[in-house]
Amino acid sequence: MSTFILGIESSCDDTSAAVIKDGYLLSNIVASQAVHEAYGGVVPELASRAHQQNIVPVVHEALKRAGINKNELSAIAFTRGPGLMGSLLVGVSFAKGLALSLNIPLIDVNHLTGHVLAHFIQVKGEENELPAFPFLCLLVSGGNSQIILVKSYNEMEILGQTIDDAAGEAIDKCSKVMGLGYPGGPIIDKLARQGNPKSFTFSKPHIPGLDYSFSGLKTSFLYSLRDWIKEDPDFIEHHKADLAASLEATVVDILMEKLRKAAKQYNIKEVAVAGGVSANNGLRNAFREHAQKYGWKIFIPKFSYTTDNAAMIAITGYFKYLSKEFCPIDAPAYSRVTLQ
Ligand code: KG4
Repeated sequence: MSTFILGIESSCDDTSAAVIKDGYLLSNIVASQAVHEAYGGVVPELASRAHQQNIVPVVHEALKRAGINKNELSAIAFTRGPGLMGSLLVGVSFAKGLALSLNIPLIDVNHLTGHVLAHFIQVKGEENELPAFPFLCLLVSGGNSQIILVKSYNEMEILGQTIDDAAGEAIDKCSKVMGLGYPGGPIIDKLARQGNPKSFTFSKPHIPGLDYSFSGLKTSFLYSLRDWIKEDPDFIEHHKADLAASLEATVVDILMEKLRKAAKQYNIKEVAVAGGVSANNGLRNAFREHAQKYGWKIFIPKFSYTTDNAAMIAITGYFKYLSKEFCPIDAPAYSRVTLQ
């Protein structure tokens, strides 16, 4: 008999549902919330309201595209945290209600584990090589910048992480300073393709070990811009692409330097990247260059699996289902947590 897992993700501003059959993805529906663009960032109350509106049609569509009836589901996997509490509660409550009514197991998934295991999402007929354990994963998103040693589906060790801002957060804030839209990551990425990454130099942190820091870069970017604007009030307009390219190059350099260090220290050549910032073309190119130069076998996710999606929650749920790791109906959502 086949195993069907419904995955539900509602940790931030994307409502998503996906169906996995025996480890293969059948559907992955994501409803993004444009309402936050006007505010230059996610407004938690608006996010939870939008999740409330979206959750039923999104789950309905995921089941429809998968071509299955809800009674065929084997279990429901949901993002338990970390994330915005109001957003999480919508997905968590919905998952619990549905699992209870169908009398099937409930599986809690850590959102960060989901990002890492997104590398195991397979689509029938489009199978790709999967990472072999142990591998390294650079997890870079709006809230996290971590180097993770992935030992198995359910054993991961954080080797290094940001001590202040995350890489995506720093890019978004610098983009805001430049008066660009939200989220800044994709806009900076697009502009950077037309600019010279060597035009400007911004400060890089000197943090021991494998940890990161991005708050100094943000300050350096802000102060440099302030000085340049004194000389030329239209400085940003005149140098938009070069600023974006130089900012992106600095972030990528900082990320890759520690990742190289980790790969050397742990003698690992299988290296993956995950999270929203892994959509960045500069970072993807740096991964390809490292594969050439250091003989790394690299794993770069499809664009649709970089940002928040329920396919990664469903695949993580599938692995937990196989090892019978279920969660009680009274398991609360958690807003803050690291891996596991
Ligand atoms: O993983 P994610 O969707 O959400 C969480 O933070 O959990 O990541 C969002 C982050 C934002 O900071 C966004 O600006 C960044 O990913 N991002 C990018 C790109 N696409 C999204 N950053 C750089 N280049 C991109 N193409």
